[in-house]
Amino acid sequence: MNDPNGMVYFNHTYHLFFQYYPGATVWGPMHWGHAISKDLIHWKELPIALYPDSLGYIFSGSAVVDSNNTSGFGKNGKIPLVAIFTHHDPKGEKAGANNFQNESLAYSLDGGYTWTKYSGNPVVKNPGITDFRDPKVSWYAKGKKWMMTLATKDRITFYSSPDLTNWTKESEFGKELGAHGGVWECPDLFQLKLNGKSYWVLIVNINPGGPNNGSATQYFIGHFDGHQFTPIDNTTKWLDYGPDEYAGVTWNNTSNRTVFLGWMSNWLYATLVPTEKWRSAMTVPRELKLIEHNGSILIASSPVRELEALGGKTYTVTNPGAKNTSTITPLADQYVIHLQTKATTGFTVELANTNNEKLTLGYDKMHNQYFIDRTHAGISDFNKQFAGHFTAPRLSNSKSIKLTLIVDKASVELFADGGASVMTCIFFPQKQLNEIAVQTASAGQISTLSCSALTSIW
Ligand code: FRU
Repeated sequence: MNDPNGMVYFNHTYHLFFQYYPGATVWGPMHWGHAISKDLIHWKELPIALYPDSLGYIFSGSAVVDSNNTSGFGKNGKIPLVAIFTHHDPKGEKAGANNFQNESLAYSLDGGYTWTKYSGNPVVKNPGITDFRDPKVSWYAKGKKWMMTLATKDRITFYSSPDLTNWTKESEFGKELGAHGGVWECPDLFQLKLNGKSYWVLIVNINPGGPNNGSATQYFIGHFDGHQFTPIDNTTKWLDYGPDEYAGVTWNNTSNRTVFLGWMSNWLYATLVPTEKWRSAMTVPRELKLIEHNGSILIASSPVRELEALGGKTYTVTNPGAKNTSTITPLADQYVIHLQTKATTGFTVELANTNNEKLTLGYDKMHNQYFIDRTHAGISDFNKQFAGHFTAPRLSNSKSIKLTLIVDKASVELFADGGASVMTCIFFPQKQLNEIAVQTASAGQISTLSCSALTSIW
């Protein structure tokens, strides 16, 4: 699997579709896999939702609840869910055409469980742009129309529609702005508030060209008037600085909160990682909000509160300040570590095993940045760029450092300063990393250190 797709909340159910090739553990003809959840944490996999057809593979896209039946797909009062995705025609690609990606629709009249492709597909025809994909659609209430945010090679193109079937180009954004180390993919457009004021967030995933190499998620904060997006500043911002969060976008129709989910891998090595019966996972769902730091507006991400329900036994180091090394023992294969320092002092957390494999991470005070180093964390010979030391700037002036780590068998998600700096990183040790040690330069610098078991969701 790769990208999350068609994320929509309907009838008390979170739907997650995803790029999926059922025939192998490497990328192939894309389908939309399907999973559902009541709480964003426990998932049930369902039959494949969309299969490739004569127009091509089913690439990434989104899904909306068409409550007013603008599309006319609704029958007998049933509210249609409409999926908007890219049809990728492999034959056209092979023949050297430049219009082999087009946008198409499918609809569901049973709340997202079974889907019918629209007979008039495609609904947005490619004008001759080789990368023309990943439509994210949402209702623009002020203009009473649907907006499609589309990744078109090195920029975003906005389209609008009254009925999801007829689309008009509105504008382009970003050719000269943001990071351009690779192709723009999987965008998203939504509103968030800060101090009662509304802003628009434009997410643009990029591959390669991320801050720690390969794939990553950048974003812009600005204004959107139903036609055009205007950023309020020109700095490049990253939603997650780690090497392994990509194609992340948000759920549609969650009304009072914005929940983001990313694919936990990187195209540098996604098809090479040493897993056998599975290939890739998603991040923990994260709630997004806006914060202010040194005069600029940023996104902060936190694991959704539903994750707390998995919290098992907690182990707290009673007097973590006493020595400059504290060790804790996780009580499960998955666990959450909370750490708080007394001041902005550097520290290192080491997750290790008896094979001498270790993942180190922490805060480097001299460079004012967080880091994760997986150089010695297990198998890495499948790709030259896998072993490495990754960094994220600290984006907070608070007087102490608060860190949350969500650790699974092959991944860590780091949230610092209330989610202002986030890093996701995968690793492949031969044995579980379940010896945890925290080190500071001198004694007495850590005020809280705890480790809570996470109950398995399976
Ligand atoms: C991003 C991406 C998308 C595309 C899909 C194909 O990871 O390349 O742009 O729609 O994956 O699987």
